[in-house]
Amino acid sequence: MVHLDLRKIGDAGVAVLRMDNPPVNSIGSQVRVALGERLAAALADDTVQAIVLTGTGKFFCSGADIREFNTPKTQIRPLLRELIATVETAGKPIVAAINGTALGGGLELTLGCHGRVASEDAKLGLPEVKLGVLPGAGGTQRLPRVVGVPAALNIIVEGEPLTAQQALECGLVDEVAADPVEAACRLALEIRRGERASRAIDPAPLGDVVPANVFEEARRNAQRRYRGCIAPQECIACIEKTLHTDLQTGLTFEAERFKFLVEGDQSKAQRHIFFAERKAAKLPTSAPAAEVRSVGVIGAGTMGGGIAMSLVNAGIPVVLFEQSEEALQRGLGVIQKNYEVSRKRGRFTQEEIDARLALIRRSLDYSDLADVDLVIEAAFEDMQVKKDIFAKLDQACKKDAILATNTSRLDINEIAAVTSRPAQVLGMHFFSPANVMRLLEVVKGARTADTVLATVFRLAQRIGKIPVLVGVCDGFVGNRMVSHYTREAYFLLEEGCTPAQVDGALRRFGMAMGPLQMQDMAGLDISWAARKRQAATRPAHLRYSKVADRICEMGRFGQKTGSGFYRYEAGSREPIPDPEIDALIAQCAAEAGITRREISDEEIVARTIYALVNEAARIVQDGIAQRPSDIDVVYVAGYGFPMFRGGPMFYADTVGLPKVLETIRQFHAEHGQYWEPAPLLVELAESGRRFSDL
Ligand code: 3HC
Repeated sequence: MVHLDLRKIGDAGVAVLRMDNPPVNSIGSQVRVALGERLAAALADDTVQAIVLTGTGKFFCSGADIREFNTPKTQIRPLLRELIATVETAGKPIVAAINGTALGGGLELTLGCHGRVASEDAKLGLPEVKLGVLPGAGGTQRLPRVVGVPAALNIIVEGEPLTAQQALECGLVDEVAADPVEAACRLALEIRRGERASRAIDPAPLGDVVPANVFEEARRNAQRRYRGCIAPQECIACIEKTLHTDLQTGLTFEAERFKFLVEGDQSKAQRHIFFAERKAAKLPTSAPAAEVRSVGVIGAGTMGGGIAMSLVNAGIPVVLFEQSEEALQRGLGVIQKNYEVSRKRGRFTQEEIDARLALIRRSLDYSDLADVDLVIEAAFEDMQVKKDIFAKLDQACKKDAILATNTSRLDINEIAAVTSRPAQVLGMHFFSPANVMRLLEVVKGARTADTVLATVFRLAQRIGKIPVLVGVCDGFVGNRMVSHYTREAYFLLEEGCTPAQVDGALRRFGMAMGPLQMQDMAGLDISWAARKRQAATRPAHLRYSKVADRICEMGRFGQKTGSGFYRYEAGSREPIPDPEIDALIAQCAAEAGITRREISDEEIVARTIYALVNEAARIVQDGIAQRPSDIDVVYVAGYGFPMFRGGPMFYADTVGLPKVLETIRQFHAEHGQYWEPAPLLVELAESGRRFSDL
C-alpha cells in the first residue's frame, strides 16, 4: 500500500514513500495507517535526511476513499488531517513528487509538505464541492495561504483541476519536472541544506488581503451557478476564515463544516450520482468493442450539428450528410457560429477550431458513407422518413457498419426491420445541445448485438458522454417519464396554477428549469405531433388537458416562434408571463368543468416529481432500465434534475417509499387512473425496502 525506498544522493539519504492503492490511489483507512507507519519509520531513521512522498502510475492520490464516508472506517487513526499535521511539523523536509493526478485529500496532503514538484501531465484540484462536501483536510485553510484568496476561491468553489503549468504559474507547485521524484529528492535536500526556502505554511491570519466585497460576490455567483447547493457556500465561509483566524482555529472550523456536509442529504445524493454514473457505464456483457474510425451523421440540423461537433471535438472524422446544398450550408454555418462563441469565451483557439472543422466532410450523396464504421441518423422525427433513410443506408454502407438512430421515441425494432442487419441497428439518443449535454441513451433493439453495444459505449466515453443502456418503448427512459411529468403540469394549470407558479415551484425544488419553460425551449410542436399520433389509441375515459394543443393551434410553438406558455422578447430566452395564456387556461378549465383552487408549491412538486417516480418504478420493472440508479443518471445528466437530490429514485428513497406511496394513493383516489401505484413501488414500500436495495 505504501512502499519505502531509501535512496542515496551524494552522501545524503532520502526516503521515498510511494502510495500504491489501485485503481486511483485513493487514501482510505488502510493507506493512512500504512503511510503513518512508513512516515514514522523514515522520521526515526538517522540515515534519512529528507523525505519524498509520491504515488503510482497516473495517480499521485485521488483523495479520500469516498466509499468509506459515513462509515466507522473514517475514524481509524491516523485521520488524514493528523497525518498532514505530522508532515507539516516534521523535523525533516518532506517534498511531494506529484507524479500524476492529485485531487482532494491527495492535494491536501501535498499542502502540508515543504515543497511540491509536479510531472508535466499532473492534474491538481480540490473537487470535493462536486461531492457536496468541502476540502476537509485543511484545503480551505492552506490553499489560500499558498496561492492567495482569489485563486483558492476559484479552485475550491469551481472544483475544476489545474494543469501542472497552471499550478506552477499560481505558485501551487515549485517546479514541473519530467522526473518529479528525482527533482523532489533534489529539492528536499536543498531545503535541508538551507539552499532553498521551505514552503511550510505561515499559520498567521492572512488579514484583509482582498476587498470586502470579494466574498459577497463569490456567494452571489455560487448561488446563481449552483442554485440550492449548500457546499459551495460552506467552502466560501471556510476560505473567509483564513483572513482573521490562525491556521489551527480555521482547521477546527473546517472540520466542523465538513462533518455537517458529509452527514447531510445533499452530499449523500451527490456521491450517489458519482458512483451511479460509473455504474451506468458498465454493460452486462464482456463482448469486445470494435474501433470506430469515422462516423456518418445524417442531418445537419440542431441535433445532427451538435452530434458532429461532439465527434470532431474528440478527433473523430465525420461525413455530414444532408439532402440539399442549402441545408448543408445552413448546418455548417450554425456549427461555425457555435465554435465562434466558444472561441470568444476562450475555450478553443482558432487553430483548434480549424482542425475540428477540417474533420467534417460534406456530403449530399449516400455513397460517401460507404466506408464509415458507424452512422448516426438525426433526421426528422417521423417513422416513414427514418425507414426510407435506413433502407438507403443499408444499401450504401459496408456490411459491418453500425446504423444508429437518434430518435427520441420511435420503435427501434421497426426501423431495424427495414435493414438486412438488425443486429447492427440501435438507438443513440442524444440530448440537446448535443455537443454540451453529457447524457446518451443507448437503446438496445430486440436483436442488437452485444458487440455493437460495447462499441457504442466505448465511443460514448471517448466523446465525453455518459452512456446509459435502455430498452425499446415509447420515449425510452427519459421521455417516457417526462410525458407523465408534463401531463401533471398541464393538469395543475387547469386546476388553478399559472405557468410561472408551476415552473417556480419546480425551480425552487432545484430543477434547472420548470416543465413549461422546458416545453417552450424544446418546441411545443414536437409533443403536439406525438399527441396527435397517440390520439387514436388514447382511452376516452382518461382525463386529457387541451391547454397545450390550444396553445399550438394559436401558432405558438415556444421560444422559436417568440411565444408558447410564455412570450419572449426578440433575441431573449427570458420567459414573460402572458395574460392571454392565463385566460386560455381558465377557459380550458371551465370547458372541462374544473373549479380552480389555490395550489401549494408542495403539491406542485409532489404531483410532478412523484409522477416521475411512479413511472420510473414501472420502467425498472419492465426491464427498460438496468437499475434504478441509471434512471437517476438520466434525469440528472439529461433533464436538469438537481444533482443535490440525487435523481428521482434517490429522492424517493430519501423521502421514504412508504410516504411516497401513501401520497400516490391519495392522488389515485383524487385524480384517478393515471395514479395507479406501480406494483414495484408497492412491493418495495410494503417490504421496507428502497430502490437502492435493488
Ligand atoms: N474514492 C473511492 N473510489 C474512487 C475514488 C475515490 N476518491 N475515485 C475513483 N474511485 C473509483 C471509481 O468509483 C471507479 O470504481 P469502479 O471501477 O468500481 O467503478 C474507479 O475508482 C475508477 O474511477 P474512474 O472510472 O472515475 O476512473 P478515471 O480514470 O476515469 O478517473 C479520477 C479518475 C479523475 C480520479 C476520478 O475517479 C475522480 O474524479 N475521482 C474522484 C476524485 C475526488 O472527488 N476526490 C476527492 C475525494 S473527497 C476528499 O478527498 C475529502 C477530503 O477533502 C477530506
